[in-house]
Amino acid sequence: MQKLQEILKKVLISEADLQSRIAELGAQITRDYAGEPVLMICILRGGVMFLTDLIRHIDLPVSIDFMAVSSYGAGRYESSGNVKITLDLNSNLAGQHVMIVEDIIDSGHTLSSVVAMLETRRPKSLKICTLLDKAERREVDVKVDYAGFVIPNEFVFGYGLDLDEYYRNLPYIGVVDLEKYHPES
Ligand code: IMP
Ligand code: MG
Repeated sequence: MQKLQEILKKVLISEADLQSRIAELGAQITRDYAGEPVLMICILRGGVMFLTDLIRHIDLPVSIDFMAVSSYGAGRYESSGNVKITLDLNSNLAGQHVMIVEDIIDSGHTLSSVVAMLETRRPKSLKICTLLDKAERREVDVKVDYAGFVIPNEFVFGYGLDLDEYYRNLPYIGVVDLEKYHPES
């Protein structure tokens, strides 16, 4: 396995910057929902770090649930419009304020499909909160209600985001050095 120092081009967002921005987002969400309960839905697996840190900064009656999706027919590091639920929610969304918590929006295919699927379950409201937004890569329109950081078009990893399933445990967001990184399979 390659060493992290070999494949990390640079730290894009430090742990301190992540944490202070997440605290701001939590405060903003707390104000916007004005005491109303909200169901926060984490999209596995990338959103898990962000969800657990974010909810600690939200002063509302919060409940959480998890779902996983996969998208077929795209490249190794790209998603397509063919999104399938591989792990569904346990909660009934009807009549609830629901917020989708995602690690990153890239083309927008994943989230626009998830939003369409969840809208059919009649939530009282449905909002999107993403930690990272690669805005210049957008191919389909998605209304992002909360975004932590708008980032340039580079492949990033850490803090929930994987590089071929590894490194989700890093406390910061790093940029991959694609000239030095050699996937093992
Ligand atoms: P979209 O459907 O193109 O918006 O892609 C969203 C999904 O692609 C995210 O949930 C991530 O799993 C993955 N993704 C997109 N860009 C990156 C990246 O730079 N690093 C790691 N995963 C990424
Ligand atoms: Mg991924």
